[in-house]
Amino acid sequence: MIDPRAALRQGLLGLGRSDSVRRVVERAPVSRAALQRLIAGEDTAAGVAAATELLASGRLATVSFLGEDTVDVAQASRNRDAHLAMLRALQEAGATQRGAAEVSIKLSAVGRALSEDGAKVALDNARQICEAAAAAGTTVTIDMEDPTAVDQTLEVVRDLRADFPWVGAVLLADLRRTEADCRDLATAGSRVRLCKGAAHSQPDSARFEDKRDVRLSYVRCAKVLLEGKGYPMLATHDADLIDVARSLADKELRAPESFEFQMFFGIRPEEQLRLAQAGVAVRVYVPYGDRSRWYRYAVHRMAERPADMMYVRRSGSTKG
Ligand code: FDA
Repeated sequence: MIDPRAALRQGLLGLGRSDSVRRVVERAPVSRAALQRLIAGEDTAAGVAAATELLASGRLATVSFLGEDTVDVAQASRNRDAHLAMLRALQEAGATQRGAAEVSIKLSAVGRALSEDGAKVALDNARQICEAAAAAGTTVTIDMEDPTAVDQTLEVVRDLRADFPWVGAVLLADLRRTEADCRDLATAGSRVRLCKGAAHSQPDSARFEDKRDVRLSYVRCAKVLLEGKGYPMLATHDADLIDVARSLADKELRAPESFEFQMFFGIRPEEQLRLAQAGVAVRVYVPYGDRSRWYRYAVHRMAERPADMMYVRRSGSTKG
């Protein structure tokens, strides 16, 4: 029997690849409002403004550049430069102290998918971004974009960590391998963001397909990370998982500054503030950049939870 929610999710992910649908949705007033709620803006200044506003409210930020598709080395360099400009601007705004605002990098934006030497180009560019982050006194996290490229992405993290041990890795609880990856990465100083895993349009035997299994996997992985010696970054909007993770952290006598929660800009801002006011570290993922990428980003958020479109429409002024 067809699961209507899975069908809707697949439909939305399919729409994300259609330019004509994108143009229609971008022009619709509700959609535009939704996009503007989920994305900080187009340029560095907008990203910095969102990050400093979050910091002023007691939250932390990880700023993520949405660049044009990277088709050549020159584009990869321009995207790298956008990250360098963001780090300079965050430092000038006083936002990078003690890693309060950091950047998240997509390796594809800095060259990974290029046919010639893509891996090397991406590593060189990521290294330059890490050097700039070190100079600014903050950190970098490498997003996990493609669940089929986990080994390749973690290899880049390992290479970068030789010089920059604070580079954050991302692990996805919907992959069967992730509990073992958590064990490998739960070492002293290791920053690991744990996510459920983004919605996918195709079934895959390497993943847990059932949402309940993904949540159970998330709990097992969070337990490994919180019992370990690293710095867990628990990225989820799921209230039950947040409660479980907080209990596990209490059980392990974890100091408040030894782990953090992460959520998306514009999603559950009241919960972000509630946790921050309770003394829990909360970092908000702030996307900004090229308008042509807004739609694809927002469609992925919708595919995870179609009700969000109504939610972002109803929400009041607590932006971020
Ligand atoms: P899910 O979307 O299943 O929501 C669970 C519950 O949360 C809902 O049932 C509801 O109770 C509550 N909820 C969610 N949205 C709500 C809303 N708007 N209002 C009220 N309640 C709401 N993925 C990836 O593949 N690679 C990556 O690098 C990253 N990076 C990343 C960073 C950060 C900071 C986050 C938050 C997420 C990612 N992700 C990611 C995405 C991640 O893998 C996952 O797809 C989404 O976070 C959605 O999963 P949730 O755990 O939030 O649960």
